[in-house]
Amino acid sequence: MIGTIVCVDDQAEVRRLLGDVFRAKGGNVVSFDDGEDAIKWLGGNEADLVILDLDLGANRRSGIEICKAIRARLPDLPIIILTGHGTIDDAVAAVKAGAVDFITKDPYLEDKLEISVEKVERIIKHALDRKRLEQENKELRATNERLRKAAGPRWQIVGNSPPMRTVMAKIEKVAAVPRPVLVLGPRGTGKELVARAIHMLSPRASEPYITINCAAVAESLLESELFGHEEGAFTGATKQKEGKFELADGGTLFLDEIGNMSLEFQAKILRVLEYQRFERVAGSESIQVNVRVIAATNADLKQAMADGKFRPDLYDRLAFEVIHLPPLAQRLEDIPVLASYFLVRFRQEVAGITVKEISAEAFDRLAAYDYPGNVRELKNVLERAVYMAQGEVLTGADVDLALPPEAQQAPAPGTGFADDPRLPLPERVDSFEAWLCKDALERTRYKQKEAAQLLGLTYDQFRQRYRKYALGKE
Ligand SMILES: Nc1ncnc2c1ncn2[C@@H]1O[C@H](COP(=O)(O)OP(=O)(O)OP(=O)(O)O)[C@@H](O)[C@H]1O
Ligand SMILES: [Mg+2]
Repeated sequence: MIGTIVCVDDQAEVRRLLGDVFRAKGGNVVSFDDGEDAIKWLGGNEADLVILDLDLGANRRSGIEICKAIRARLPDLPIIILTGHGTIDDAVAAVKAGAVDFITKDPYLEDKLEISVEKVERIIKHALDRKRLEQENKELRATNERLRKAAGPRWQIVGNSPPMRTVMAKIEKVAAVPRPVLVLGPRGTGKELVARAIHMLSPRASEPYITINCAAVAESLLESELFGHEEGAFTGATKQKEGKFELADGGTLFLDEIGNMSLEFQAKILRVLEYQRFERVAGSESIQVNVRVIAATNADLKQAMADGKFRPDLYDRLAFEVIHLPPLAQRLEDIPVLASYFLVRFRQEVAGITVKEISAEAFDRLAAYDYPGNVRELKNVLERAVYMAQGEVLTGADVDLALPPEAQQAPAPGTGFADDPRLPLPERVDSFEAWLCKDALERTRYKQKEAAQLLGLTYDQFRQRYRKYALGKE
């Protein structure tokens, strides 16, 4: 997409050419034969790119001076300079004046312009991406810092992948809003951690945080657990008991694993959410509370609704904000930070741990497994590897020992057979492919995503080869 392009040239035919080229690409072109007019126009209008002739005619300020003047006012606006002679001196002067590119007016001007504009587009896009990323990283660090202060190191949320950045941004945004939040994700992805973070970052942080695992209690008991009961409500109810809703008054109630409640019970929960009012089991008094509910499940609620097993009205009520935690396999770039974090925590918790750092090869082995148990499983693997290791640096072999047997890889093929003419072609091709992938890994310091990019493969295609050639192993 090209936006508004300002063209400044004293030759009408060049202006026409520029206009034709960029309008054909969907750009909006504004032309001037004089630099001063362009500066004036830029004072009150937005542009995305300026293409500026170096020689704007006798008795006029040169393109270089116009370029400097625009630069001083609009430092982020890219400028491309055109010249008739194309000498080194001109190029140097243009770059010094702040131009991003420099093109000679010759019969190939049209093609050159297109290439140059594409280049500028890329530069702009990169600059924007970088800015956005920096901003997001800053916000992420700030949220985590606040979380560390409010909740202590045990409740830190680690991860820098785009989905985790979205998660952190949502936590930060919804924390202060006293409405339900639904946290979804497969087992071990950090749902409880997120619920705790929302509470700790909310104005209710110093009020109670009560949790209940709805799947762990039979439904007949769940009612009394949540709402309390009066003395004699059922056999064994020897005295009156407050339920979790009452205990959480003023604070937050975390309803974990809400996926399997009966429809009837879901209706009861919905009523409390709507009116913040309920009666104890066998009670007649209506109790009013102020409770913020966070609910979590690893069930597919959309499917459950389609099957008539989850009430859409409860879903709507809970889904004021929905936070999705993707499986770890969809955010492999979080593995190194998570593993390093778990090592630090483990060392703090347990005396006499020898391992102080994790080798590149160990990171690589950690990232080569799929973790059906997600972050919880990664934590266990890392801790077991560290616990069994002997040295100060965790090796790939240490990790292998801690991974489940199904994660063990096939032995690595020999490398360097590619140019052995005695071998059949497929083996030579494989060998060469393995070598290329390994080389890409080394060049990118074992960052698999980048290695895939380097080879022009999709991440999945790269992973296939990674497994096939057992590239995680030395
Ligand atoms: N992003 C993360 N940063 C740091 N630790 C994490 C992160 N995600 C998960 N963990 C850790 O992984 C373990 C599992 O997290 P948690 O109990 O929150 O997952 P869950 O989604 O509630 O799992 P389940 O569905 O089994 O209840 C905990 O030890 C938690 O501290
Ligand atoms: Mg949980």
